[in-house]
Amino acid sequence: MNKGIDIGIIGAGRWGPNVIGALRRLPEVNANCIADINQSSLDQLENRFNGLRTFTVADDLIKSPEFDAIMVCTPVTSHLDLVEQALLHGKHVFVEKPFGQDPEKCTELCEIAETKKLAIMVGHVFLFNSSILELKKIIDSGELGEIQHLEAHRTNLGPVRKDVNAVWDLTSHDVSVFDFLLDSLPESVSCLGSRRLDPNIEDTSYTTFRYPGSIIAHAHASWLNPRKVRQITVIGSKKMALWDDLNLEHPITIFDSSIGLEQAYYSDSFASHRLSYNRGDVTLPSFPTNEPLFEELKHFIEVIEGNEINRSSGRYGVEVVRTLQVADKSLEAEGAFINTGR
Ligand SMILES: NC(=O)c1ccc[n+]([C@@H]2O[C@H](COP(=O)([O-])OP(=O)(O)OC[C@H]3O[C@@H](n4cnc5c(N)ncnc54)[C@H](O)[C@@H]3O)[C@@H](O)[C@H]2O)c1
Repeated sequence: MNKGIDIGIIGAGRWGPNVIGALRRLPEVNANCIADINQSSLDQLENRFNGLRTFTVADDLIKSPEFDAIMVCTPVTSHLDLVEQALLHGKHVFVEKPFGQDPEKCTELCEIAETKKLAIMVGHVFLFNSSILELKKIIDSGELGEIQHLEAHRTNLGPVRKDVNAVWDLTSHDVSVFDFLLDSLPESVSCLGSRRLDPNIEDTSYTTFRYPGSIIAHAHASWLNPRKVRQITVIGSKKMALWDDLNLEHPITIFDSSIGLEQAYYSDSFASHRLSYNRGDVTLPSFPTNEPLFEELKHFIEVIEGNEINRSSGRYGVEVVRTLQVADKSLEAEGAFINTGR
């Protein structure tokens, strides 16, 4: 008989197989069953993973007493129904980001989970990325000074989604990183988008978040761009940092760059103040890198076992969904800033 935690996976598209691969490297986990409505996606996996059992109906996993937890790796529009069914059948749930499209329903699911003492974890994977954790340490140490603004770029040629726009697909990652780095949630959101591939879905978006303390964080996201970019620039009053997820050796660069007022020059009028440009050393901090998805799933198991506090809980996932919903409202209002009510 198997010992450990039995996990069923739903969704064998682009991301689900990465989740199975990572789960199978966790010693206490049995991840041998996957469901997808598309038989051809399942067929491709049978050759890739030994002993994998495949199902074309998600309910076969959700309703089976064999499983302790269900991983939902399907398109966003299907998340809430699958999460609800899994909770009602007594399973812990890991759901890919973003949690769902309706914050009220997401909240209701959190209440069900809490009543039943089950965990919901949302796959905000960058919260488990060692370079983001390092960037947070650098910010918290005060090395960069006071944070002035942040700017994220997340572009590539595809993959194009049909269920949600680029904000929900890509900027959902950057919002989670901004929230984490700034220890707060956006107060208002402005979003402009461009729909060149599908008349109803923004393939490119420019979203600006206003955080407490007048900090602006901007995120450019696009499926219609020749360059794969995953970067965030943090501008501090003393120094500046660039996070580049595609730079495997040195994901963080710190620039001792700043602009201040020339001390030796005194003037009563701001217009005639002389600015001093500081272009100092550029440093590449070294720290151990990790495999974020593996760390995220390891954390999920620790949460289920009651050993760790959920760092990407359903409750936090609801906050991201609320922010994204406000971005959609702003898109409808041609980029007007809309309050999040926080
Ligand atoms: N954390 C990350 O970095 C990351 C990366 C990629 C995708 N994702 C997330 O993972 C999820 C899936 O993305 P993807 O790129 O794999 O999508 P995908 O479209 O490639 O695959 C989704 C799969 O789900 C299946 N499916 C749909 N409805 C189903 C249902 N009711 N029951 C069973 N199977 C069903 C589809 O047949 C398809 O094979 C999304 O929420 C996405 O945002 C996260």
